[in-house]
Amino acid sequence: MVDQSRTGKIGIFDSGYGGLTVMRKIVDVLPQYHYLYLGDNARAPYGNRSFEAVYHYTLEAVNWLFSQGCELVILACNTASAKALRQIQQTDLPLRNDGKNVLGVIRPTTEFIGSLTQTGSVGILGTAGTVKSDSYPIEIHKFFPNVKVSQEACPMWVYLVEHNHLEGDGADYFVNHNLENLLRKDAEIDTILLACTHYPLLLNTIKKFVPEGIKVVSQGEIVAERLVDYLIRHQEIERKLSLDSTREFTTTDDAETFNQHASLFFGEQIFAQQVVLGA
Ligand code: DGL
Repeated sequence: MVDQSRTGKIGIFDSGYGGLTVMRKIVDVLPQYHYLYLGDNARAPYGNRSFEAVYHYTLEAVNWLFSQGCELVILACNTASAKALRQIQQTDLPLRNDGKNVLGVIRPTTEFIGSLTQTGSVGILGTAGTVKSDSYPIEIHKFFPNVKVSQEACPMWVYLVEHNHLEGDGADYFVNHNLENLLRKDAEIDTILLACTHYPLLLNTIKKFVPEGIKVVSQGEIVAERLVDYLIRHQEIERKLSLDSTREFTTTDDAETFNQHASLFFGEQIFAQQVVLGA
């Protein structure tokens, strides 16, 4: 029998398509819940935007997802997690006082990544905004104070993915260029984190240029595993979640364009609806 008191959704937010790679992994391990995805494609990419702009856009998205019945929102975007999550958690959530929560992708990853390195050197690849925020070195050092963290911003990679240039000369050039830069910063790096939700789509090209013996880690599975654990520990939220195995997809830009690209990220056909935030 359907429990009428369980109506809450899990919101998953990204600046565009990238969060679908995280949602894929979450849905694979927790298929029973009702998911509402929101891609702010009309304002993507967020990677080079100011702190204030990313915070403002992300807060607007979170409030919209809450208004649609989400009890929990995952910021499946590193740039939003780096630039907006802390302020939303510290300033905006306490004002609501309704038990809803927002989680990011950085904390679950940084709790784990330091345990993978043998040499004690980790490399982070992300957008300019994520790298500039220094969120990864700061958070990794809380859990692994002795791990050396080097970062490289890859401003072209999101564009390569958004335009479906996943392989070929353009992808080869930019991927190789940024990997060389990263490894020049620390030749001891044996673990590279793809700290942007778009980058797993470039994995084939990345693997072509990563020297043997270096692990390349994507975030989706890590975030999904941590969410399983979070929901066990937070029964006050889990008990509110609908168990109707539904997936809804929304975008702030044209739905048909979204549908054409989104299947590449999610691995199945998607039918999205265009929405206006704040309306
Ligand atoms: N999804 C974003 C992230 O993980 C990258 C795309 C963007 O720049 O908006 O950082």
